[in-house]
Amino acid sequence: MATILPFLLACGGGAETPSGSDDGTAGAEATERCSDGPEAQRCGGPGEHHGAEHQGGEHGHRHGRHDHGHHGQGAHHDFSDVERFAEIFDDPERDSWQKPDEVVGLLGLQPGQTVADLGAGTGYFLSRLSAAVGPEGAVLALDVEPNMVAHMEARIEREGLANATARAVPTDAPGLEPNSVDVILIVDTWHHIGEREAYAAKLFTALRPGGSVYVVDFTMDSPQGPPAEMRLTTLQVAEELGAAGFEIHTLEETLPHQYVVQATRPTE
Ligand SMILES: C[S@@+](CC[C@H](N)C(=O)[O-])C[C@H]1O[C@@H](n2cnc3c(N)ncnc32)[C@H](O)[C@@H]1O
Repeated sequence: MATILPFLLACGGGAETPSGSDDGTAGAEATERCSDGPEAQRCGGPGEHHGAEHQGGEHGHRHGRHDHGHHGQGAHHDFSDVERFAEIFDDPERDSWQKPDEVVGLLGLQPGQTVADLGAGTGYFLSRLSAAVGPEGAVLALDVEPNMVAHMEARIEREGLANATARAVPTDAPGLEPNSVDVILIVDTWHHIGEREAYAAKLFTALRPGGSVYVVDFTMDSPQGPPAEMRLTTLQVAEELGAAGFEIHTLEETLPHQYVVQATRPTE
């Protein structure tokens, strides 16, 4: 299990909060500050990044709308061509840099728990999540794109993931009952969500006290991922989730292109 570090300590304190300029430069500046010294990896600093997930894929063409900074509309993108995205998201080579076992290990899932995968796409993480919570647990695979949901339903059936269900959700809400889930995993999806502070409040309500959201997304200097103006620094993600009342931690991990921010609903 990775060591959990207080986010603000790891990234240099509250004064590092980006100012939120509309062109996204504040986030870039924040990462630059984070990239100096031994905290660089924790804060999403520079590294030797390579891989193929988004090359010519999710971010290989124009998005309909960009956030360009802070807590805004998110990057809306057409994910309806499931077969094309399945080749990218489920490319066996992805495992080498996505490190799905490490990601799922960071979640600290226990048998019997309920985990939601928000923006689950083709269901890349589902088999591991299913195994982690076991037959008494539940995996909720959530996505706005109906074709992705249909694809996951077939995958769940094919792979015999009896504790998993896929469901479509609206763009502005996870569709989860209050106090109903223990863990919410959000991989390469947080930057697609609009009005993220308001959305974070809905995640807070959906979690049981002590439960956590984990945001995994691309670092500012990753050679792949969304266009630079759409990327979010760990500081920006922390600010958005922190505004909803979450306690923020950044996790030590060995992902070459991404960071992991943990946001925990306090127990009281
Ligand atoms: C880049 S894919 C990531 C898929 C998956 N998490 C993975 O790592 O393979 C982003 C996914 O998020 C979904 N998505 C975008 N906005 C969303 C929203 N507001 N709520 C739920 N899902 C969303 C898209 O339909 C797409 O399937």
